[in-house]
Amino acid sequence: MQGDAPARGPGEKWQAFAAYDGDEMVGTGILVLTLLDNTEKAYLGVDVAPANRRRGIGGALLEHLCAVAAEHGRTVLLIDSNVPAAERETHPYVRFAAKHGFSLANVEVRRVLPLPVPAERLDAWEQEAAPYHRDYRIETFVDDLPEELLESYCYLSNQLAIDAPTGEVDFEAESMTPETFRIRQQKVKEQGRTVFETLAIDAAGDAVAQSTLAVPSEDPGKVHQWGTLVRKDHRGHRLGLAVKVRNLRAMQQAFPNRRSVVTTNSEDNDHMVAINELMGFEPVELAVEFQRRLDH
Ligand SMILES: CC(C)(COP(=O)(O)OP(=O)(O)OC[C@H]1O[C@@H](n2cnc3c(N)ncnc32)[C@H](O)[C@@H]1OP(=O)(O)O)[C@@H](O)C(=O)NCCC(=O)NCCS
Repeated sequence: MQGDAPARGPGEKWQAFAAYDGDEMVGTGILVLTLLDNTEKAYLGVDVAPANRRRGIGGALLEHLCAVAAEHGRTVLLIDSNVPAAERETHPYVRFAAKHGFSLANVEVRRVLPLPVPAERLDAWEQEAAPYHRDYRIETFVDDLPEELLESYCYLSNQLAIDAPTGEVDFEAESMTPETFRIRQQKVKEQGRTVFETLAIDAAGDAVAQSTLAVPSEDPGKVHQWGTLVRKDHRGHRLGLAVKVRNLRAMQQAFPNRRSVVTTNSEDNDHMVAINELMGFEPVELAVEFQRRLDH
């Protein structure tokens, strides 16, 4: 069975699929197509409940999703999964992907930072970074951004897809505009997430570095680190550490009962990983991405 699923914004089409054995739903699939950028790609997901595995259900769903993606003209098919670090080559999910012609494209490490981080540590990191970024203003916004920063913010966040290392997969810049940002923000609000955005703003009044934390209402205890990015021409001022620490402080003050922040970075992303390690993030598992190319 197939149906439309709610997208994050107007630039995406989400389709949901389900496999049934009689009346029982035994597996689900999701197909995401980006419509305004990266239009050769399709993002796939399949899940089969543990009791129903090894019956060919996951494989049938995956092949169906691949066929639908191909009908939409997509040639780079991406699927991801989470596995323990020691099993990156042997885990059943990795074997499943290989059996269906998907090869390893990118390995990200998921790390967790226990909360609360003591105020003295936040102070120390802030003081360490401060002498390097005196020419920038650092400000935190919750759930929204002021109109005058939207254009530079969109330009900045659109670079994340090309600036962050992504292994074998090449991305083009995203195409978020102030208008699509507002629609996305509204969706995120409807999903029950509180979003903390800390920006570094240069002398011209442009947002040149950002870090985002999302606090979900339905996952008590957890906080998700979304993007952190410093515009290329503003690197070397410790702005990455500065925006991350300021954002963490603001979130912790507003949500003192949260227990951990979860972040995921490519294993090749040395600069981001160095900041995360300094802040005490500990690795817990791998997020692995596989690709199947239909164009060669
Ligand atoms: C990965 C997943 C979707 C597989 O679903 P499934 O219905 O068990 O898959 P299939 O029965 O079609 O298995 C197809 C092939 O994958 C490989 N495979 C799957 N599970 C395996 C296991 N436990 N051990 C070894 N190989 C395995 C085998 O080659 C299998 O073929 P075979 O049974 O003929 O040997 C399921 O385990 C799952 O929901 N995992 C969690 C979600 C996830 O990570 N999805 C993305 C995976 S890239």
